[in-house]
Amino acid sequence: MDFPEVRMRRLRRLDTLRSLVRETTVDVSDLVYPLFVMEGRNIKTEIGSMPGINQFSVDRLPREVEEIARLGIPAVILFGIPENKDEVGSSAYDSEGVVQKAIRAIKKEVPELLVVTDVCLCEYTSHGHCGVVVDKVVDNDKTLPLLAKMALSHAEAGADMVAPSDMMDGRVGAIRRALDEKGFIHLPIMSYAAKYASAFYGPFREAAQSAPQFGDRRSYQMDPANVREALREVQLDIDEGADIIMVKPALSYLDVIRRVRDRFDCPVAAYNVSGEYAMVKAAAKNGWLDERRTVTEILTSIKRAGADIIITYHAREFAAWMQEDKGAR
Ligand code: PBG
Repeated sequence: MDFPEVRMRRLRRLDTLRSLVRETTVDVSDLVYPLFVMEGRNIKTEIGSMPGINQFSVDRLPREVEEIARLGIPAVILFGIPENKDEVGSSAYDSEGVVQKAIRAIKKEVPELLVVTDVCLCEYTSHGHCGVVVDKVVDNDKTLPLLAKMALSHAEAGADMVAPSDMMDGRVGAIRRALDEKGFIHLPIMSYAAKYASAFYGPFREAAQSAPQFGDRRSYQMDPANVREALREVQLDIDEGADIIMVKPALSYLDVIRRVRDRFDCPVAAYNVSGEYAMVKAAAKNGWLDERRTVTEILTSIKRAGADIIITYHAREFAAWMQEDKGAR
Protein backbone atom coordinates (compact mmCIF):
# COMPACT_ATOMS: atom_id res chain seq x y z
CA MET A 1 0.00 0.00 0.00
CA ASP A 2 1.30 3.40 -0.91
CA PHE A 3 0.13 6.94 -1.55
CA PRO A 4 -2.71 7.80 -2.07
CA GLU A 5 -3.96 4.82 0.04
CA VAL A 6 -1.57 5.63 2.87
CA ARG A 7 -2.02 9.15 4.12
CA MET A 8 -0.02 9.90 7.24
CA ARG A 9 -1.89 13.14 7.75
CA ARG A 10 -5.16 11.32 8.62
CA LEU A 11 -4.04 10.83 12.20
CA ARG A 12 -2.78 14.38 12.56
CA ARG A 13 -6.05 16.11 11.78
CA LEU A 14 -7.53 16.41 15.28
CA ASP A 15 -6.17 17.06 18.71
CA THR A 16 -7.97 13.98 20.00
CA LEU A 17 -6.50 11.76 17.29
CA ARG A 18 -3.02 13.14 17.81
CA SER A 19 -3.26 12.49 21.50
CA LEU A 20 -4.56 8.95 20.90
CA VAL A 21 -1.52 8.00 18.82
CA ARG A 22 1.08 9.91 20.83
CA GLU A 23 4.02 7.63 21.59
CA THR A 24 5.72 9.62 24.34
CA THR A 25 4.34 11.75 27.13
CA VAL A 26 6.06 13.56 29.95
CA ASP A 27 4.42 13.39 33.33
CA VAL A 28 5.27 15.50 36.36
CA SER A 29 5.86 12.20 38.17
CA ASP A 30 8.92 11.63 35.93
CA LEU A 31 10.70 14.75 37.17
CA VAL A 32 13.28 15.55 39.82
CA TYR A 33 13.83 19.18 40.82
CA PRO A 34 17.30 20.42 41.88
CA LEU A 35 17.61 22.66 44.95
CA PHE A 36 20.66 24.69 46.03
CA VAL A 37 20.90 25.04 49.78
CA MET A 38 23.19 27.31 51.71
CA GLU A 39 24.05 28.42 55.25
CA GLY A 40 22.60 31.61 56.66
CA ARG A 41 19.11 32.88 57.42
CA ASN A 42 16.24 34.01 55.29
CA ILE A 43 18.22 33.82 52.06
CA LYS A 44 16.68 33.44 48.63
CA THR A 45 19.18 34.55 46.01
CA GLU A 46 18.44 34.15 42.33
CA ILE A 47 21.27 32.75 40.23
CA GLY A 48 22.12 35.25 37.51
CA SER A 49 22.60 32.72 34.73
CA MET A 50 19.59 30.62 35.79
CA PRO A 51 16.54 32.89 36.02
CA GLY A 52 13.90 31.37 38.29
CA ILE A 53 16.40 29.21 40.19
CA ASN A 54 17.54 30.29 43.65
CA GLN A 55 19.91 29.46 46.43
CA PHE A 56 17.96 28.98 49.65
CA SER A 57 19.00 29.01 53.27
CA VAL A 58 17.74 25.99 55.21
CA ASP A 59 15.08 28.01 57.05
CA ARG A 60 13.48 28.97 53.71
CA LEU A 61 13.18 25.37 52.54
CA PRO A 62 9.93 24.32 54.27
CA ARG A 63 7.95 26.89 52.28
CA GLU A 64 9.64 25.85 49.02
CA VAL A 65 9.23 22.12 49.38
CA GLU A 66 5.63 22.47 50.45
CA GLU A 67 4.99 24.22 47.13
CA ILE A 68 7.06 21.69 45.15
CA ALA A 69 5.09 18.81 46.66
CA ARG A 70 1.79 20.61 46.04
CA LEU A 71 2.72 20.81 42.35
CA GLY A 72 3.02 17.01 42.30
CA ILE A 73 6.80 16.90 41.81
CA PRO A 74 7.84 13.64 43.49
CA ALA A 75 11.51 14.32 44.23
CA VAL A 76 14.20 16.92 44.79
CA ILE A 77 17.97 16.58 44.47
CA LEU A 78 20.03 18.66 46.88
CA PHE A 79 23.27 20.55 46.27
CA GLY A 80 25.00 22.24 49.16
CA ILE A 81 26.92 25.48 49.36
CA PRO A 82 28.85 25.22 52.63
CA GLU A 83 30.18 28.09 54.72
CA ASN A 84 33.69 26.68 54.87
CA LYS A 85 35.71 24.86 52.26
CA ASP A 86 38.97 23.00 52.84
CA GLU A 87 41.37 20.67 51.04
CA VAL A 88 39.36 17.54 51.88
CA GLY A 89 35.82 18.92 51.85
CA SER A 90 35.19 18.27 55.55
CA SER A 91 31.80 19.96 55.66
CA ALA A 92 30.53 17.46 53.07
CA TYR A 93 30.40 14.70 55.68
CA ASP A 94 29.63 16.77 58.77
CA SER A 95 26.35 15.79 60.44
CA GLU A 96 25.74 19.54 60.90
CA GLY A 97 26.61 20.28 57.27
CA VAL A 98 24.23 22.33 55.16
CA VAL A 99 22.81 19.40 53.17
CA GLN A 100 22.37 17.27 56.28
CA LYS A 101 20.40 20.10 57.91
CA ALA A 102 18.40 20.60 54.72
CA ILE A 103 17.46 16.92 54.55
CA ARG A 104 16.13 17.02 58.10
CA ALA A 105 14.21 20.26 57.47
CA ILE A 106 12.58 18.88 54.31
CA LYS A 107 11.73 15.51 55.80
CA LYS A 108 10.12 17.24 58.77
CA GLU A 109 7.96 19.46 56.58
CA VAL A 110 7.02 17.06 53.75
CA PRO A 111 8.01 13.49 54.66
CA GLU A 112 6.59 12.06 51.44
CA LEU A 113 8.80 14.19 49.16
CA LEU A 114 11.68 12.01 47.97
CA VAL A 115 15.00 13.56 48.94
CA VAL A 116 17.94 12.66 46.73
CA THR A 117 21.39 14.03 47.48
CA ASP A 118 24.25 14.77 45.13
CA VAL A 119 27.40 13.11 46.45
CA CYS A 120 30.51 14.96 45.26
CA LEU A 121 33.20 17.00 46.94
CA CYS A 122 33.55 19.87 44.46
CA GLU A 123 31.27 22.25 46.34
CA TYR A 124 33.17 21.57 49.58
CA THR A 125 36.83 21.63 48.55
CA SER A 126 38.90 24.81 48.50
CA HIS A 127 40.35 23.81 45.11
CA GLY A 128 36.92 23.00 43.64
CA HIS A 129 37.82 19.53 42.39
CA CYS A 130 35.59 16.51 42.95
CA GLY A 131 38.17 14.62 45.00
CA VAL A 132 41.32 14.84 47.08
CA VAL A 133 44.18 16.58 45.25
CA VAL A 134 47.70 15.21 45.60
CA ASP A 135 50.42 16.96 43.58
CA LYS A 136 47.82 18.70 41.41
CA VAL A 137 46.19 15.37 40.55
CA VAL A 138 42.76 14.23 41.78
CA ASP A 139 43.60 11.05 43.67
CA ASN A 140 40.94 8.44 42.97
CA ASP A 141 41.48 5.97 45.79
CA LYS A 142 42.02 8.57 48.51
CA THR A 143 38.68 10.13 47.50
CA LEU A 144 36.58 6.96 47.82
CA PRO A 145 36.39 6.78 51.64
CA LEU A 146 35.37 10.46 51.77
CA LEU A 147 32.57 9.93 49.27
CA ALA A 148 31.41 6.89 51.25
CA LYS A 149 31.41 8.98 54.44
CA MET A 150 29.46 11.73 52.70
CA ALA A 151 26.82 9.32 51.36
CA LEU A 152 26.50 7.69 54.77
CA SER A 153 26.02 11.03 56.53
CA HIS A 154 23.25 11.90 54.05
CA ALA A 155 21.61 8.55 54.77
CA GLU A 156 21.86 9.14 58.50
CA ALA A 157 20.25 12.57 58.08
CA GLY A 158 17.30 10.90 56.34
CA ALA A 159 18.00 11.04 52.60
CA ASP A 160 15.96 8.62 50.48
CA MET A 161 18.57 8.09 47.76
CA VAL A 162 22.17 9.13 47.13
CA ALA A 163 23.52 10.18 43.75
CA PRO A 164 27.31 10.14 43.32
CA SER A 165 28.41 12.57 40.60
CA ASP A 166 32.18 12.71 41.11
CA MET A 167 33.19 10.16 38.43
CA MET A 168 35.85 8.44 40.54
CA ASP A 169 36.34 4.78 39.65
CA GLY A 170 34.89 2.37 42.18
CA ARG A 171 32.82 4.90 44.10
CA VAL A 172 29.49 3.13 43.68
CA GLY A 173 30.92 -0.02 45.25
CA ALA A 174 32.57 1.95 48.06
CA ILE A 175 29.31 3.77 48.82
CA ARG A 176 27.24 0.57 48.64
CA ARG A 177 29.53 -1.19 51.14
CA ALA A 178 29.53 1.76 53.53
CA LEU A 179 25.73 2.00 53.45
CA ASP A 180 25.23 -1.74 53.90
CA GLU A 181 27.66 -1.90 56.81
CA LYS A 182 25.58 0.64 58.69
CA GLY A 183 22.29 -1.03 57.91
CA PHE A 184 21.14 1.16 55.00
CA ILE A 185 20.63 -1.89 52.82
CA HIS A 186 17.45 -0.46 51.31
CA LEU A 187 18.84 2.94 50.34
CA PRO A 188 19.16 3.11 46.53
CA ILE A 189 22.07 4.60 44.62
CA MET A 190 21.42 6.66 41.51
CA SER A 191 24.78 6.84 39.82
CA TYR A 192 25.86 9.61 37.47
CA ALA A 193 27.35 6.78 35.42
CA ALA A 194 28.04 8.54 32.13
CA LYS A 195 28.88 12.08 33.09
CA TYR A 196 30.69 14.12 30.48
CA ALA A 197 33.20 16.95 30.89
CA SER A 198 30.72 19.45 29.53
CA ALA A 199 30.63 23.19 28.90
CA PHE A 200 26.92 23.03 29.77
CA TYR A 201 27.70 22.93 33.52
CA GLY A 202 28.80 26.60 33.47
CA PRO A 203 25.75 28.14 35.19
CA PHE A 204 25.69 25.36 37.82
CA ARG A 205 29.20 26.22 38.89
CA GLU A 206 28.03 29.77 39.56
CA ALA A 207 25.02 28.42 41.47
CA ALA A 208 27.01 25.92 43.53
CA GLN A 209 30.21 27.98 43.70
CA SER A 210 32.10 24.91 42.58
CA ALA A 211 34.32 25.93 39.66
CA PRO A 212 37.75 24.24 39.83
CA GLN A 213 40.44 26.69 40.93
CA PHE A 214 43.01 25.15 38.57
CA GLY A 215 42.76 22.92 35.53
CA ASP A 216 39.48 21.27 34.55
CA ARG A 217 37.59 18.03 35.10
CA ARG A 218 38.70 16.18 32.00
CA SER A 219 40.85 13.68 33.91
CA TYR A 220 37.76 12.23 35.57
CA GLN A 221 34.68 13.24 33.58
CA MET A 222 34.10 11.69 30.17
CA ASP A 223 35.18 12.94 26.77
CA PRO A 224 32.07 14.22 24.92
CA ALA A 225 33.21 12.34 21.83
CA ASN A 226 32.72 8.88 23.35
CA VAL A 227 29.70 6.61 23.56
CA ARG A 228 31.13 3.08 23.80
CA GLU A 229 33.01 4.26 26.86
CA ALA A 230 29.68 5.35 28.37
CA LEU A 231 28.37 1.80 28.05
CA ARG A 232 31.42 0.50 29.92
CA GLU A 233 30.91 3.10 32.66
CA VAL A 234 27.28 2.07 33.02
CA GLN A 235 28.13 -1.63 33.10
CA LEU A 236 30.71 -1.07 35.83
CA ASP A 237 28.31 0.97 37.97
CA ILE A 238 25.60 -1.66 37.65
CA ASP A 239 28.12 -4.34 38.65
CA GLU A 240 29.08 -2.24 41.67
CA GLY A 241 25.46 -2.00 42.76
CA ALA A 242 23.92 1.10 41.16
CA ASP A 243 20.11 0.95 41.15
CA ILE A 244 19.50 3.77 38.68
CA ILE A 245 22.00 4.98 36.14
CA MET A 246 22.25 8.47 34.78
CA VAL A 247 23.44 10.13 31.61
CA LYS A 248 24.49 13.76 31.89
CA PRO A 249 24.03 16.22 30.20
CA ALA A 250 20.89 15.24 28.31
CA LEU A 251 20.42 17.17 25.09
CA SER A 252 23.74 16.75 23.35
CA TYR A 253 23.74 13.15 24.58
CA LEU A 254 20.35 11.82 23.48
CA ASP A 255 22.16 9.13 21.50
CA VAL A 256 23.95 8.04 24.66
CA ILE A 257 20.63 7.80 26.52
CA ARG A 258 19.25 5.69 23.68
CA ARG A 259 22.26 3.35 23.61
CA VAL A 260 22.13 2.91 27.39
CA ARG A 261 18.36 2.30 27.28
CA ASP A 262 18.74 -0.36 24.59
CA ARG A 263 21.56 -2.18 26.31
CA PHE A 264 20.50 -2.13 30.00
CA ASP A 265 17.22 -2.84 31.72
CA CYS A 266 17.69 -0.77 34.87
CA PRO A 267 15.95 2.60 35.22
CA VAL A 268 17.68 5.37 33.28
CA ALA A 269 17.82 8.98 34.41
CA ALA A 270 18.95 11.97 32.37
CA TYR A 271 20.15 15.30 33.73
CA ASN A 272 18.86 18.28 31.75
CA VAL A 273 21.68 20.49 33.01
CA SER A 274 22.08 24.14 33.92
CA GLY A 275 23.46 25.30 30.56
CA GLU A 276 20.58 23.66 28.73
CA TYR A 277 18.18 25.49 31.02
CA ALA A 278 20.02 28.81 30.66
CA MET A 279 19.86 28.72 26.86
CA VAL A 280 16.08 28.26 26.88
CA LYS A 281 15.59 30.97 29.48
CA ALA A 282 17.75 33.47 27.62
CA ALA A 283 15.99 32.88 24.33
CA ALA A 284 12.54 32.94 25.91
CA LYS A 285 13.31 36.21 27.69
CA ASN A 286 14.22 37.76 24.37
CA GLY A 287 11.01 36.50 22.83
CA TRP A 288 12.99 34.27 20.46
CA LEU A 289 11.40 31.04 21.65
CA ASP A 290 8.04 30.09 23.10
CA GLU A 291 9.16 28.80 26.50
CA ARG A 292 6.36 26.36 27.21
CA ARG A 293 6.48 24.72 23.81
CA THR A 294 10.27 24.58 23.85
CA VAL A 295 10.45 23.03 27.31
CA THR A 296 7.75 20.49 26.49
CA GLU A 297 9.57 19.51 23.31
CA ILE A 298 12.90 19.18 25.15
CA LEU A 299 11.51 17.04 27.96
CA THR A 300 9.62 14.89 25.47
CA SER A 301 12.79 14.34 23.44
CA ILE A 302 14.67 13.19 26.54
CA LYS A 303 11.93 10.68 27.33
CA ARG A 304 11.69 9.58 23.71
CA ALA A 305 15.44 8.90 23.77
CA GLY A 306 14.76 6.44 26.58
CA ALA A 307 15.00 8.21 29.94
CA ASP A 308 12.56 7.18 32.66
CA ILE A 309 13.54 9.99 35.00
CA ILE A 310 14.46 13.58 34.12
CA ILE A 311 16.31 15.86 36.49
CA THR A 312 15.41 19.34 35.35
CA TYR A 313 15.32 22.95 36.50
CA HIS A 314 12.16 23.30 34.39
CA ALA A 315 10.24 20.89 36.68
CA ARG A 316 8.47 23.56 38.65
CA GLU A 317 7.23 25.56 35.69
CA PHE A 318 6.30 22.44 33.79
CA ALA A 319 4.29 21.19 36.77
CA ALA A 320 2.56 24.57 37.07
CA TRP A 321 1.57 24.47 33.38
CA MET A 322 0.14 20.99 33.84
CA GLN A 323 -1.87 22.18 36.83
CA GLU A 324 -3.17 25.21 34.93
CA ASP A 325 -4.36 22.88 32.17
CA LYS A 326 -6.19 20.69 34.65
CA GLY A 327 -7.81 23.74 36.17
CA ALA A 328 -8.89 24.93 32.72
CA ARG A 329 -10.55 21.62 31.89
C1 PBG B 1 28.95 18.10 40.92
C2 PBG B 1 27.89 18.33 39.89
C3 PBG B 1 27.90 19.18 38.78
C4 PBG B 1 26.62 19.12 38.23
C5 PBG B 1 25.90 18.22 39.00
N1 PBG B 1 26.71 17.74 40.00
C6 PBG B 1 28.93 20.11 38.25
C7 PBG B 1 30.20 19.62 37.71
O1 PBG B 1 30.46 18.43 37.57
O2 PBG B 1 31.01 20.50 37.44
C8 PBG B 1 26.13 19.89 37.05
C9 PBG B 1 24.67 20.16 37.05
C10 PBG B 1 24.23 21.20 36.08
O3 PBG B 1 25.01 21.77 35.29
O4 PBG B 1 23.04 21.50 36.11
N2 PBG B 1 30.08 17.47 40.46
